[in-house]
Amino acid sequence: MTNVLVIGAGGREHALAWKLARSPSVERVLVAPGNGGTALEEGVENVDVAIDDLDGLVALARQHAVDLTVVGPEAPLAAGLVDRFKAAGLKCFGPGADAARLESSKAFAKDFLSRHEIPTATWTVVDTVEAGMQFARGQVLPLVLKADGLAAGKGVVIADNDETIQRTLEDMLSGEAFGEAGRRVVIEEFLVGEEASFIALVDGREVLALATSQDHKQRDDGDRGPNTGGMGACSPAPIITDALHQHVIDEIIRPTAEGMVDDGCPFTGFLYAGLMVTQGGARVLEFNVRLGDPETQPIVMRLKSDLAEALLKALNGRLNEVELEWDPRPAIGVVMAAGGYPADYRTGDVIAGLDSEWPDEIKVFHAGTRLEEHGTVTCGGRVLCVTAIGESLAKARAEVYRWLPEIGFRDAYWRNDIGHRALARDPQ
Ligand code: AMP
Ligand code: GLY
Repeated sequence: MTNVLVIGAGGREHALAWKLARSPSVERVLVAPGNGGTALEEGVENVDVAIDDLDGLVALARQHAVDLTVVGPEAPLAAGLVDRFKAAGLKCFGPGADAARLESSKAFAKDFLSRHEIPTATWTVVDTVEAGMQFARGQVLPLVLKADGLAAGKGVVIADNDETIQRTLEDMLSGEAFGEAGRRVVIEEFLVGEEASFIALVDGREVLALATSQDHKQRDDGDRGPNTGGMGACSPAPIITDALHQHVIDEIIRPTAEGMVDDGCPFTGFLYAGLMVTQGGARVLEFNVRLGDPETQPIVMRLKSDLAEALLKALNGRLNEVELEWDPRPAIGVVMAAGGYPADYRTGDVIAGLDSEWPDEIKVFHAGTRLEEHGTVTCGGRVLCVTAIGESLAKARAEVYRWLPEIGFRDAYWRNDIGHRALARDPQ
C-alpha cells in the first residue's frame, strides 16, 4: 500500500488529495500544508510544512515513509524540490529545476520552442525599455508583454498602444511589478483564437495525454477584466477535436518531450501546454510544468483509473504501460473567489453552507480556506471550486450554478458563464 504526499494548498491539491485517497492502492494521503478542505477530507491529513521548506518536506517524506510525492504548484519545482527528493532516494513526480525552466523562464521556453520548431507566437526578449520600444516600433499591435519569471499567472499584459508598452516595460524591468521575475521581458505577437489546456504525463520521451480542459482566466463574465489564475474550467475542451488532439501530440507534446531529452534536460511530470487554437493550427502560449488550477478539479472528477498507480509506473520508467480511463461525461468547476481578487480582498470570513448534503455529482474543492475552531474561514483569493459532473456540459453547469448559492461568505464573487466557449461548440 502506498503512502502519498501532496504538496500545496490550493484547489488543485484538494482535488489531487481527494482523488488519490480514493485509489485502491493508497493507504494514506498527507498534504503539506493543505487547506480547510483537505483538513476534513476522508483519508487525508494536513501536515504543517510550508511549500518552500525543502528540507522540511524531505524530512516529512522520510518520517512518514512516503512512497510517492506529487507537487501541485510551480514554485517548489523551480526551486529544485524534485532534485532534492531524488538525492534523498524519494520518489517525487515532477520535473527537476532544470526542466522546470519551461515554466519558470518564459525566455527559456520561447528559445526552446523556436529551436525545436514547435509552433508558438513570434517573439523577442529585452532587458531595457529602449530595446523594447525599438522592437515594438513597426510591429502590429496589440503586443503581448510577459515578465520572464514566475508571476502567478499575472505577469502578462496585452498592450494596444505605445504608452502602455512603455509603462509596462518600465514597471516590469524596474523590478517594481514582479521583482526579479520582471528583469527580462518577452514581447510577443498577439494570437487570435480560442484557448485550451492540454496536459500530459511525461517521462523522458514517453507521453500520455490527460483529458483536455479549458479554463477561463479573466475575472469577469464575457472573459473581461484582469487576468487571474483561473475562475473556472471544464473538461473536455470540445475545440480539441480528435484530429487536433493528434496534431497537438505530434507537433507539440512529443517534440517538447524529445527536445528536452535531446537538450540533456529530460522532463518528468505533468506537462501543461497552454494552447491558442488559431486559424493556422494550435500554438503554444505558455508551458506549465504542473497541473492547472482549476483545470485539475474537473479533470480528476472524470478520471476513473488509479492515479497513484499511474504516477508510480511513470516514475519507474513504465509510463508506456499506463492506460487512463475517463468518464465520458463532462465536468465543470466554478471558482468562488473573495471579492476584489486578483487585487486586494478580505480574508478571515466564515464560510456558511459547507456541510450541506451534496449529491454525488457535486464536489466542493477548497482553495483559500483554513479550518479554525469556529469553522472554515477564507484565507485566499480563490476560495472554493464547486465542481460537477453530468450527462452533458449544460447539465453539469446547471447543477453547479444551482448548488453554488448554498455556500455563502462575505463578498463572495464568481463568474456566471464558466464553460461558455465549450457550450457554444457543444450546446446540449
Ligand atoms: P500566459 O501566462 O503566457 O499563458 O498568458 C496568460 C494569458 O494571456 C493567456 O492565457 C492568454 O489569455 C493571454 N496571452 C498570452 N500570450 C498571448 C498571445 N501571444 N496572444 C494572445 N493572448 C495571449
Ligand atoms: N489555470 C491556469 C494555470 O493553472 O496556470
